[in-house]
Amino acid sequence: MKSKMDKRAFGPWALVTGASSGIGKEFAIQLAASGIHLVLVARRLSLLETLGQQLQKQYGIQYRAIGADLADESALARILQVTEPLDIGLVVSNAGAGAPGEFIDKKQEDLLKMVNTSVIAHLKIAHHFGRLLAEKKRGGIILVSAMGADRGLPFMANDAGTRAYIRSLGLGLHEELKRHGVRVTVLIPSPTDTPIVEQLGFQPEKMPMKPISVEQCVVETLIAHKKNRPSIIPGRLYRLMDALTPDALARKMFGKLLAEGNGIRWRIEQ
Ligand SMILES: NC(=O)c1ccc[n+]([C@@H]2O[C@H](COP(=O)([O-])OP(=O)(O)OC[C@H]3O[C@@H](n4cnc5c(N)ncnc54)[C@H](OP(=O)(O)O)[C@@H]3O)[C@@H](O)[C@H]2O)c1
Repeated sequence: MKSKMDKRAFGPWALVTGASSGIGKEFAIQLAASGIHLVLVARRLSLLETLGQQLQKQYGIQYRAIGADLADESALARILQVTEPLDIGLVVSNAGAGAPGEFIDKKQEDLLKMVNTSVIAHLKIAHHFGRLLAEKKRGGIILVSAMGADRGLPFMANDAGTRAYIRSLGLGLHEELKRHGVRVTVLIPSPTDTPIVEQLGFQPEKMPMKPISVEQCVVETLIAHKKNRPSIIPGRLYRLMDALTPDALARKMFGKLLAEGNGIRWRIEQ
């Protein structure tokens, strides 16, 4: 399952952050299948090199791999240095990790690292590449948020707050950049089968619905982006669940899953 992207509109190069695993890796695969060259970013450089070489061999594309921690202030400078001579037509700002646990037990330093990766890095990437794409009057930006983030999430309160920022930023930019011929779509992933699901302590058998595949997540997002939709929650049933579930119930349902999966004692108050 793949969605063909027009490389004249969204190429010849694309930048994908968080490309070493999961959703970002699948974006890289699907874009390469459309003949789009790739700049791949994540901390695990060896995984990016392996992926880049595989896609080069399979689809004849070129790639650049950047091993960078987006929580680090200097990461963007390295990305700009590598991308400066390249004609970037699509940006997928996707990198992010989950760190479940009680807010008050966490170190402030770690909470701020999450803000750097999942707020500041997205802001800087959207600002820099938004300007470049607006000058060229083409291309697009896909920003990756999370389903339910804007409702608040117990035991991932800071993580969810950062993803709510991404969603709001992207929806605003969707309207602003449209005037410049640039598409902006927010991907709001429903539970998707990547290593993050296990890291969050979610037990698939206790979840209300099975996680969707990364292929489905990325195909639906690329289709939505081509149609210039402001946002997409992949998976029809998850879209329905999101629309029909009251905020308070969603907080309790996902908070309970996180508490159970991470050994946190939590009795839901009525
Ligand atoms: N899967 C889901 O159910 C789900 C649901 C809601 C939202 N999301 C969001 O979707 C995005 C992708 O997640 P995924 O599910 O594909 O998880 P994943 O398989 O764990 O991939 C996360 C990617 O982000 C990179 N990354 C994490 N922290 C980074 C940092 N500080 N600097 C640079 N790269 C970093 C990781 O690479 P390295 O470890 O090599 O750095 C990896 O490539 C995340 O932002 C996540 O919050 C996922």
